[in-house]
Amino acid sequence: MALVGPAPMLKTNPFAVLRSDLRDERSATVPFPPGETHVSLARTRRFAEEPLPMLLDAYERYGPIFTLRLFHGNVVFMLGPAANHYITVSHAANFTWRDSHFRDLIGLMGDGLLTIDGEFHRRSRLIMLPAFHREHIAASLDVIVQETESALDSFKPGATVDLYAWTRRLALRVAMRALFGLDPDGAQARSIDAAGLFEEALAFYASDYLLRVFRGRFTPWARMQEAARKLDTLIYAEIQRRRASGERGSDILSLLLDAHDEDGNTLSDVQIRDEVMTLMFAGHDTTTSTVSFMFYELARQPQIVAQLLAEQDSQLDGGRARPSQLIGGELAQLEMVLDETLRMYPPAWVGPRRAVEAFEFEGRTVPARAFVNYCSWASHHLPDVFEEPEAFRPQRFTPEARAALPKGAYVPFGGGSRTCIGMRFGQLEVRTIATLILSRFTLEQSPGFELSIRQMPTISPKHGLPMIVRERSAAATSLPAAA
Ligand code: HEM
Repeated sequence: MALVGPAPMLKTNPFAVLRSDLRDERSATVPFPPGETHVSLARTRRFAEEPLPMLLDAYERYGPIFTLRLFHGNVVFMLGPAANHYITVSHAANFTWRDSHFRDLIGLMGDGLLTIDGEFHRRSRLIMLPAFHREHIAASLDVIVQETESALDSFKPGATVDLYAWTRRLALRVAMRALFGLDPDGAQARSIDAAGLFEEALAFYASDYLLRVFRGRFTPWARMQEAARKLDTLIYAEIQRRRASGERGSDILSLLLDAHDEDGNTLSDVQIRDEVMTLMFAGHDTTTSTVSFMFYELARQPQIVAQLLAEQDSQLDGGRARPSQLIGGELAQLEMVLDETLRMYPPAWVGPRRAVEAFEFEGRTVPARAFVNYCSWASHHLPDVFEEPEAFRPQRFTPEARAALPKGAYVPFGGGSRTCIGMRFGQLEVRTIATLILSRFTLEQSPGFELSIRQMPTISPKHGLPMIVRERSAAATSLPAAA
């Protein structure tokens, strides 16, 4: 028996949605936390451009919970370890995702794990969890290695590569093969340019917020819906083909087709489509950004690269990592670099929620139906939690230092019942790509490049990441592995 999903969102007309939000706000029975609550288009624009300084400034002025009036209404932000723990773990049941500020994602992903709540979320997650167990993730390693090695063949010493665009293409190919079992070079995928369509659908979420409100022909929304419709044809055809033939592979789609919980509940075709779309969305942007930001920082810190290379020299067999080293995160220096990258640049930077009931946190009240966000990006930049937060210091993540962090301080993968289900997959992919790049090349920052970050829906380098490719430098490996 298939699980029964949530009712469709009643209001999809964006103006009706805005009206209903304003009605909710006016019917608040308790005050919003203090903050900047007068209407300001400039503030909204500034937030869309550069939220981090605004959030850190508001934290300084108002403390760990405050309100900013953004777009058309009040938005509550809760920052810091206690706030993260409150929203994701101790009081998670009082928050929903589905009608949060990111509700537009339902237009592409439907009712996949990210956009559903409550019992349906719990049961769907139980059905899906086995597909993300260690042994299944390990089965994806070959695909990740093959795709990375073949993508690395395009690196020419002396040439400049846009590492962001390169990784994005690679991660999308990995996602198509490992999650969906679809060969990106096969006739089926190429006949509709599946990768291009997926990028086109995602472009909606990077478009100007004001344009995103409009529906109707020629709008970004219409383009996204059209791309999603074509992708659906491909996905449903593949689901039906596999159901009819019984063909299964080591990809996640194969596992979802047969997955069930202990009561015999399974996923319907529509649910599988929504989950596949959700995984493709959640799974490639995030890893792309992580690889990009990691190499951006490494290019500025040759001594850290030297430690990574020394680690490779001392621990890899003939220059190749063993699967256990990649799957288990056994390369300690690389692991700390990965953790520190995700501290400074957590791709899924904001956890959007809506409060079910009014509540109180640190002496401040929040009305029912308020938009409430936790924010890993800002929480990871609080100087009272991470000293000199702007400094890239992998040593913050030695096992001892990590264990000493307060509960909820470090949340790049969220927490509680909504912790990223693809965490192991994402970590494996980033470790593998990074190890293979480092074993063959050194990437230098392009002269004059200045990083600026865009954040819709995940944070990424706004203008790509041009880097100069060099042969791996042998001299650097003479430094010791441990700091
Ligand atoms: C470095 C890589 C990644 C990072 C930093 C990351 C981060 C996150 C975060 C912070 C959340 C929780 C969001 C919230 O609380 O609102 C999340 C949820 C999720 N992620 Fe990831 N993610 C990564 C990779 C992946 C991959 C590779 C996949 C799929 C293969 C994936 C699938 C998902 C899904 C389905 C959810 C929703 C889980 C639920 O609500 O039960 N993620 N991710």
